[in-house]
Amino acid sequence: MDLETLLAPYTLPSGVVLRDRLVMAPMVAQGSDPATGHVTDEDVAYFARRSRVAGTIITAAAFVERAGRGFERQISISDDSDVTGLHRLASAITSDGARAIVQLYHGGREAHPAAAELGRAVAPSTIEFPWLPYVPQEMTEAEIRATITAFGEATRRAIEAGFDGVEIHGANHYLLQQFFSTFSNHRTDAWGGDLERRMAFPLAVVDEVQRVAATAGRPFVVGYRLCADEVHGETVGYTVEDTAVLADRLAARGVDYVHVSLFTGYTTAPEGSERSHGQILRDVVAGRCPLIIVSEVFTQHDAVRALEHGDLVAIGRAALVEPEFAAKLAAGRADEVATTVKGRKDDVVLPAGLVEWYRTTGKGLLPPLEGIDELEG
Ligand SMILES: Cc1cc2nc3c(=O)[nH]c(=O)nc-3n(C[C@H](O)[C@H](O)[C@H](O)COP(=O)(O)O)c2cc1C
Repeated sequence: MDLETLLAPYTLPSGVVLRDRLVMAPMVAQGSDPATGHVTDEDVAYFARRSRVAGTIITAAAFVERAGRGFERQISISDDSDVTGLHRLASAITSDGARAIVQLYHGGREAHPAAAELGRAVAPSTIEFPWLPYVPQEMTEAEIRATITAFGEATRRAIEAGFDGVEIHGANHYLLQQFFSTFSNHRTDAWGGDLERRMAFPLAVVDEVQRVAATAGRPFVVGYRLCADEVHGETVGYTVEDTAVLADRLAARGVDYVHVSLFTGYTTAPEGSERSHGQILRDVVAGRCPLIIVSEVFTQHDAVRALEHGDLVAIGRAALVEPEFAAKLAAGRADEVATTVKGRKDDVVLPAGLVEWYRTTGKGLLPPLEGIDELEG
């Protein structure tokens, strides 16, 4: 693989054409109105500055219903009043020809602000977790159905707002992954038990989102983000073999991409395996849809190398540090790609809430961002 491949257009299964194989990874930007989740001027400025960062830009996770709100200043896509702001966001992202994808999110047990607001957080099962200040409550059948519908309604709003597609957030220990994992799903009904039943909720969400996407009247992207495995020492929620079955089902359903979420580098492999998570899952989807790889891609060299592990390459922190990542590569200016935000406040245009998050509660939780403590300039 080479730079030419990285920068050449790519056509997704739905027919949507991407300018290149670079993708801005979804990242909560902490810029939205804390009460409503409406898009603010800060959100718009942050994404407008990044309209040339990659051919495809995935927004911050947006909550599909208030019970799923996981971050204080998170974007809402849960109410029709959100559409006007979301339209501004989509327009800012697409102003230079990038594709705009909104990530659809439900925090489940991890929805701390929702728990504070509504008095409870929901989860597949009522289980006490040592790191949570509350015990999340098992979702009823009616709640499960309502949440599936909420993902569909969010998709309708994404269409109305002018997005090119949606990404279903099935990763990072949030609600969909909680259903997929034996660690957090102890149900004995149709939504829990063997692998087939643990996949039922995530796949029902996919079906509903695809059903609504088909009404868009234009090619509309539906992607799915997942964690390759959930292995924490002795505790195994699921393995990459389980994920391979899910990825196969997703590809068979005709999703536009499978996006593997990683925090430990794009070459990360299951213990004892010579093949990386990306390579294993790319083999599973086998050309039916692309696999997006991510993590620790900071330079042109990294991005080209990452193509050995995925068909499309997502950049997270590099997109925070270098708002013109793809544009600089395309212009032959890879040596000018910035590596720190130090002293570049006006250039990087980060929401104040994101900077504060990095310096306070996000410390140790978020992957490190070079120069964030010396941002002013
Ligand atoms: C500030 C921040 C916010 C994030 N928010 C999200 C999110 O909303 N949804 C998601 O799926 N991943 C989220 N992530 C994970 C990134 O998408 C990405 O997988 C991770 O940062 C690794 O890529 P990188 O090494 O290029 O930063 C977030 C990461 C960061 C740094």
